[in-house]
Amino acid sequence: IDELLSEGVSGKRVFVRADLNVPLAEGTITDDGRIRAVLPTVKALAEAGAKVVVASHLGRPKGAPDPAFSLLAAAERLGELLDAPVAFAQDTVGPAAHDAVDGLQPGQVAVIENLRFNAGETSKDDTERGEFAQRLAALADVYVGDGFGAVHRKHASVFDLPKLLPHYAGYLIATEVGVLKKLTEDVKRPYAVVLGGAKVSDKLGVIDHLLEKADRIIIGGGMVFTFLKAQGYEVGSSMLQEDQIPAVQGYLKRADERGVEFVLPVDVVVSGSFPDLKAKAATHPGTVAADAMPAGQMGLDIGPETGALYASKLADAATVFWNGPMGVFEHPDYAEGTRSVAQALLDSSAFTVVGGGDSAAAVRTLGFDENAFGHISTGGGASLEYLEGKTLPGLAALED
Ligand code: 3PG
Repeated sequence: IDELLSEGVSGKRVFVRADLNVPLAEGTITDDGRIRAVLPTVKALAEAGAKVVVASHLGRPKGAPDPAFSLLAAAERLGELLDAPVAFAQDTVGPAAHDAVDGLQPGQVAVIENLRFNAGETSKDDTERGEFAQRLAALADVYVGDGFGAVHRKHASVFDLPKLLPHYAGYLIATEVGVLKKLTEDVKRPYAVVLGGAKVSDKLGVIDHLLEKADRIIIGGGMVFTFLKAQGYEVGSSMLQEDQIPAVQGYLKRADERGVEFVLPVDVVVSGSFPDLKAKAATHPGTVAADAMPAGQMGLDIGPETGALYASKLADAATVFWNGPMGVFEHPDYAEGTRSVAQALLDSSAFTVVGGGDSAAAVRTLGFDENAFGHISTGGGASLEYLEGKTLPGLAALED
């Protein structure tokens, strides 16, 4: 983007593909980290006199307009953060978008409606995607890719559109890639990886890859129970991906052979049912040993002994990557495990990268100062796929 700015953008229509896919609760943004992350790029372009057209997806609407997934709230928040009016177009490539863009003066910003209200955005058909990209291209003279959270998606606005316009990487993408490189090249050891989240199936690729790179792999979240079951323990009514057990057993064996330490919970916070995340009423959970989970109880967080164990495994690490919460942190009864890992990372002197929408949101909503962490990535799937060594369509298109 510095190259673009030095060439001059005054009066040019610059399409910024951002990732404003923020969590919403009844229409209110609960974590605006992704909006704040794109501010440097939007501000620099606006200050240089560009007519800035910001575009993003939000959630997973079905290729047609759906008010539940409108970007209006994100556009309003962007305006507040910029402390400037931001125009909002109620369609993406239709008359409203053209009117909004035509109405921009140099230095002004418009947000167009959710890209995924159009089937062409996410289509697997190259022609359909290409046609939608052509319609987006009509809105701009230059493309800036800055939606790091979506670079792993081969979508029209991420992959096809940059091919149709002069294209540049924004500040966020440059920063994210710079940081993630530190986790793939010349990593400082010990290198510990903390993986949480619900499904082990989402993490298979990264575990497979990290078995060659990391010194310690620390497991939390719903994934735990597939690991415990793979070791022969009963897991009550906890979340379980039975079909992943053979893969997990393979990883445990490979870790053993390679001298990679897999660290699993020794105790688990359990309850008879999944908590109501809205009411947040007290649920009176109990704590049990991980190898003695009672029938009918489900694990919803790592226990206090496990929190201490994980902290000890992070204390002397030189590099840490963390993706995925340790438990159902959205409910106060099950937030302690995630809080203890976040605290352990703050206490350690390791270079720390927190990756993933959920873990980043957890860090912020649990009241931690996000600036105290080495880097909080705006990309969940994107940072995982980067670490897996995959080619990311949105980065490949910019490098072209
Ligand atoms: C994310 O939240 O990881 C990104 O915004 C991508 O969203 P997606 O998984 O719906 O493509």
